[in-house]
Amino acid sequence: MRQLRLGMVGGGEGAFIGAVHRIAARIDGRFSLLAGALSSDPARARSSADALGLARSYGSFEEMARAEAAHPEGIEAVAIVTPNHMHYPIARAFLENGIHVICDKPLTATLAQAEELAEVAAASEALFVLTHTYAGYPMIREARRLVREGAIGKVRLVHAEYVQDWLAKAGTSRQAEWRADPARSGAGGAIADIGSHAAHLVRYVSHLPIESVSAELSTFVPGRLVDDNAQVLMRLGNARGMLWATQVASGYENDIRLRVIGDAGSLEWRHADPNRLRFGGLGAPETILTRGGAGFQGAARVPAGHPEGYLEAFASIYSDAADAILAGKMPKHLPGIQDGVDGMRFIEACIGSSRANGVWTQV
Ligand SMILES: NC(=O)c1ccc[n+]([C@@H]2O[C@H](COP(=O)([O-])OP(=O)(O)OC[C@H]3O[C@@H](n4cnc5c(N)ncnc54)[C@H](O)[C@@H]3O)[C@@H](O)[C@H]2O)c1
Repeated sequence: MRQLRLGMVGGGEGAFIGAVHRIAARIDGRFSLLAGALSSDPARARSSADALGLARSYGSFEEMARAEAAHPEGIEAVAIVTPNHMHYPIARAFLENGIHVICDKPLTATLAQAEELAEVAAASEALFVLTHTYAGYPMIREARRLVREGAIGKVRLVHAEYVQDWLAKAGTSRQAEWRADPARSGAGGAIADIGSHAAHLVRYVSHLPIESVSAELSTFVPGRLVDDNAQVLMRLGNARGMLWATQVASGYENDIRLRVIGDAGSLEWRHADPNRLRFGGLGAPETILTRGGAGFQGAARVPAGHPEGYLEAFASIYSDAADAILAGKMPKHLPGIQDGVDGMRFIEACIGSSRANGVWTQV
């Protein structure tokens, strides 16, 4: 299959998620990284591009979007891995030049930007993919299928947790610094940074929209300008849900759990044990579903019993993006612009609810 020409904005030396995107894009060999504006600092952008052996390096994303669109062998897609406030202008520049966008979450810094970007995406020939990593896990996709096919009956309860401790103290790393600055992270802290992933998992697996929320966002670290702990009650049609996103849970590195409970059974998934999915039928003994089990229909790269993890899940998002670009159409299971708008609606509804002392707020 033909490799797609990829560019990257952000992800220079010392950055976190850009390197993960590069590995994910390489795993299935569907992309070739050719060009980048890898840093906000032009000198660092150049040295980072040299270190990676990129064919073309730019000092700014504006210059890159224009030059690549005009280049006979220009990039077909761009990965955006900058802090949140830059997603909107960068995505807009590439979409307007007809270049497909693979952007990290949350979609933008504000809901207003997200809605504008959705209009730009709708007017563009180019596709928009949002890297909600956890939607790439085989057992998450299996859970989504099982719920859709009625394996647990009608969904009653959804419970999602995304629990970390890396911001339990005031952080000095560049990643901690911009995440605590509302001008760069947006108004949300933990609710945006990891709550957006948890809310996406809720919607993705339950197939239910989050209609309204009652939220309490807290800030435990003195002087921090954004929330670092979010507790949210959710109404999803007749179903009810709870979401807890925290970055101050000392002793928890990165614990993600999802429970979806229907009137006939339940499913439970944990990021720490991602190749197993607990299924409990009402009145039946619990069972553990794996990639090797009868009926498994999800994607897998290695034989059952051999663990797959974070990088493979990320790679599935990239490979699905490659399929979508070649087909010219987004498949339903691949997170896109509407998932990003829904995520921003959720974040802003939680912030609004919390400011109003937990009043139920429409999403
Ligand atoms: N999908 C996931 O699981 C996941 C995990 C971590 C981070 N993220 C998201 O990825 C994004 C980046 O997070 P990070 O932790 O890697 O941040 P980071 O601070 O490590 O890296 C950000 C990079 O963007 C560059 N940058 C900033 N402004 C730029 C500009 N105008 N032009 C070019 N480059 C610019 C910086 O120089 C840096 O290289 C955030 O939106 C974050 O929410 C997603």
